[in-house]
Amino acid sequence: MTKKYDFGLVGLGVMGRNFILNVADNGFTAFGNDLDQEKVTALIEEGGDPDKVNASTNAKEFVNALNTPRKIMLLVPAGKIVDSVIDNLLPFLNKGDIIIDGGNSFFTDTDRREAYLKEKGINFFGAGVSGGAKGARKGPSIMPGGSQEAYQHVKPIFEAVSAKYNNEPCVAYLGPKSAGNYVKMVHNGIEYGLMQLTSEIYDLLKKAGNLTNEELHQTYAKWNQGRLQSFLVEITSEIFAQKDTETDGDLVDQILDKAKQKGTGKWTSQNAMDLGIPVPTIDIAVSMREISALKAERTKADELYDRPNPEEVMKKALVEKSENALYFAFIMAYAQGMHQLADASKEYGYNLNLGEIAKIWRAGCIIRAGLLADITEAFQANPELQNLLLAPSFIEKVQNTVKATRELVAYGATNGIPLPGLSNSLTYFDAYTSERLPLNLIQAQRDYFGSHTYERIDREGIFHTEWED
Ligand code: 6PG
Repeated sequence: MTKKYDFGLVGLGVMGRNFILNVADNGFTAFGNDLDQEKVTALIEEGGDPDKVNASTNAKEFVNALNTPRKIMLLVPAGKIVDSVIDNLLPFLNKGDIIIDGGNSFFTDTDRREAYLKEKGINFFGAGVSGGAKGARKGPSIMPGGSQEAYQHVKPIFEAVSAKYNNEPCVAYLGPKSAGNYVKMVHNGIEYGLMQLTSEIYDLLKKAGNLTNEELHQTYAKWNQGRLQSFLVEITSEIFAQKDTETDGDLVDQILDKAKQKGTGKWTSQNAMDLGIPVPTIDIAVSMREISALKAERTKADELYDRPNPEEVMKKALVEKSENALYFAFIMAYAQGMHQLADASKEYGYNLNLGEIAKIWRAGCIIRAGLLADITEAFQANPELQNLLLAPSFIEKVQNTVKATRELVAYGATNGIPLPGLSNSLTYFDAYTSERLPLNLIQAQRDYFGSHTYERIDREGIFHTEWED
């Protein structure tokens, strides 16, 4: 084969096929690889011109078809498959070639692979890709991390295929090693938080305000025209309008209330605990998926306990308060995720630019939202900003929406409607903005039973008291 291609992609599933066609649409020639002959044939057919898009099941043929340094993206399920694909390619690669893992790999796996491949002279990138199948085809948000020098070879392709916000590409070099996968992991943690919040507001509107699916459709659609404008609010509105093909009802009512997960939200939460950074909106979103999975137990328990009948409230006021509360809690979810990124950047030496990250999330990805333009500006104004809640431009946004959030959380508690994302967001805000918390008592208790010592507010030093004397 004499013709050499600009870009290689292993894994021609839905994401891979769409991504490679996007590469070809942008004027680059691309070659795909998959063990499944049907997927290879389907891609060649869909590509239309084998000089532009070609594919093979054979790893050697695939590698030899690419220009050097080779740029090979893997879009295969996270885990052991990534290692085996790398090992299959390795015998045919040359020093300086670049492998990009575009899946949701755990960041420490990326660090391990990067170190392993570095020894062999191969550059390894972990690049989060967000936006689902449609994003992969029309423009995803891409979060690459790895060697900055090697990134220059990949940059023109990624910038061309990525989503654009005001003509600016939603991709940027984020940092060394696993920076890209780490940022994508936190993106997904925020995604879990926003999804949980939109779903509990739906519950509230339905149970307290008796909104029909049509009214929910209209409400979320209207919100999407305002400050809540976001991909998730937009698709939520569309979901309420979807009719069921099996029954006369709406599809949303026929869907089993058990949410699955692939692990990225849980990893965000677990790692936040390791770092000592509070992300309670994300934590509870993971827990709620876990509680949802206990359907049989929930059904049994439901019969054992009484629950108050929600007191009906005026629709108009409820919708207005819900819009405020959702906006408030969205801010808390982003604030927590960004806080985690700021800390991880120091801990893992990623040297992240938070303004740049918010910027590449403004389009293409699942958590894209109008709010991200404001978040970008806040971090551009102060790259050292520790928490969004400390940004002057956010004070009013939060101040104006917290009252409605308090009212809804109180209503939910009194009326037995679980609003854990909302109440965790509110508690996070109340605690983070409190100069004095009651944890002095915890320090006293620790010192009482375990001589763990405490500090004082009026003098420096470490103190211990013989409490029982
Ligand atoms: C994206 C998404 C995607 C993720 C799904 C499903 O940015 O395109 O985050 O990467 O895989 O959202 O995640 P769960 O199965 O864990 O809900």
